[in-house]
Amino acid sequence: MKKILVTDLIPKSTLKLLRKHFEVDINTSGQDLSRDEILSSFNNYDGILSMFSNKIDKEVIDTLSNVKIIANYAVGYNNIDVNYAKEKGIAISNTPDVLSDTTAETAWALLITVARRIVEADKYLRDGKWQKFSFDFMAGQDIHNKTLGIVGAGRIGKKFAQKSVGYNMKILYYNRKRDIDFENEYDAEYVDLNTLMANSDFVSVHVPLTSSTHHLINYDNMSLMKNNAILINTSRGAVIKEEALVKILKEKKIFGAGLDVYENEPLVPIDLIKMDNVVLLPHIGSSSTETRTAMADLAARNIISVLNGGEPLTGV
Ligand code: DGY
Repeated sequence: MKKILVTDLIPKSTLKLLRKHFEVDINTSGQDLSRDEILSSFNNYDGILSMFSNKIDKEVIDTLSNVKIIANYAVGYNNIDVNYAKEKGIAISNTPDVLSDTTAETAWALLITVARRIVEADKYLRDGKWQKFSFDFMAGQDIHNKTLGIVGAGRIGKKFAQKSVGYNMKILYYNRKRDIDFENEYDAEYVDLNTLMANSDFVSVHVPLTSSTHHLINYDNMSLMKNNAILINTSRGAVIKEEALVKILKEKKIFGAGLDVYENEPLVPIDLIKMDNVVLLPHIGSSSTETRTAMADLAARNIISVLNGGEPLTGV
């Protein structure tokens, strides 16, 4: 029987599915596998179901002569040197589509929460500070009739746009290439990044992390943002230069930010933690029970397909 390693806990139903086909080892320690564990253990298996926190670079891939597939339990795969793995004949898969709505919902949750100061207001009440009405008490920003800037109109960016219907927003988008269907569907306008940053009330980032999107959002383009603007990131932390975002927020150049991802997870800069106008989530963009189950199933089905001689279903 072929052998699979699952590098962290996954839903029981997916484990059951994998166990019908393979001998399965699973890391149940509650800790990420260490570098040494990855280097010494991966090649004992035919397939790996990996987490985005597992760094699978050239050094790791060089240890792999037995492994046929690495199925990442995430849509993002910046943790894997995909080109090198493919050169070595290892299939890589991710979990697209099944998490797009959920991740777009998280981006919207952050946007609304920052704009309407929901977390700050909740804390104020719980701290026993609520005394009376006053006209500007916890006054936030309206969302309707504003301009939404979408950086990256891929699957998640499009779902994010779809969920703006009803708020009567103008949509600007920046993408590697124009998407006429998207423009027609949402009356969206294709603009360069600086134009988007300068003209949007809310900017939401939905690009994958690659060498060309690393620090795509930096001090210079954030400086162009409106004073009332809000920046949302549910993609990967390193798409935004974090240090520059801290500076922009300290200089009060924008209204606030909503972040689900960080440059050095799970570390979050203390400066961000201290700010009231920033809402911080611990990378839970796709974390609904339904979606995390669908992602796990998709990763498992990729492994089943490849180890039965087929192609990955959602190969990268
Ligand atoms: C992804 O899928 O890339 C998320 O960031 C993790 O769920």
